[in-house]
Amino acid sequence: MGTDRRAHARFERSQVAQSIDSRAMFELIDHVGVAVSDLDRAIALYQDTFEMPVVHREVVESQGVEALLTEVGGGHVELLRPLGPETVVGKFIEKRGEGLHHVAYRVEDIDGTLASLKEKGIELIDTEARVGIWGSRVAFLHPRATGGVLTELVEPVEGDWRLRGGSHGG
Ligand code: CO
Repeated sequence: MGTDRRAHARFERSQVAQSIDSRAMFELIDHVGVAVSDLDRAIALYQDTFEMPVVHREVVESQGVEALLTEVGGGHVELLRPLGPETVVGKFIEKRGEGLHHVAYRVEDIDGTLASLKEKGIELIDTEARVGIWGSRVAFLHPRATGGVLTELVEPVEGDWRLRGGSHGG
């Protein structure tokens, strides 16, 4: 039995290794950002109706939002409430209403990824990474360069909950 279990564990590890390709530019979809005007109403939908636990809540001044992460599998939905009408998300809601705001890909080395995207001619909003939610390093690519999809890169900080495979204490 011991041999079977070890073989199975080896098989599982190889599956995990295959699911994250270190040669790929992006590791996986870290989160999808959703612009909301009322966080309590959003929590009622995502946590109570969709049964996705809220795992983090933070005011990110640099992005002008109060952000809340709900967990689904190994990924997250990032609910973004603008801190004011003049913020990026505030203007987004005024112009287009609530809804999908951005997609965020996790990367291992955000500086290297930004450099290689720049080299490929992708227009960047952030030429350098800045501090995002939960101490991560983030940068946005311009939707003009990405077919209208605002795209975020996320490099988790060391010891970050994202690296612990989903379950975390906060
Ligand atoms: Co985001």
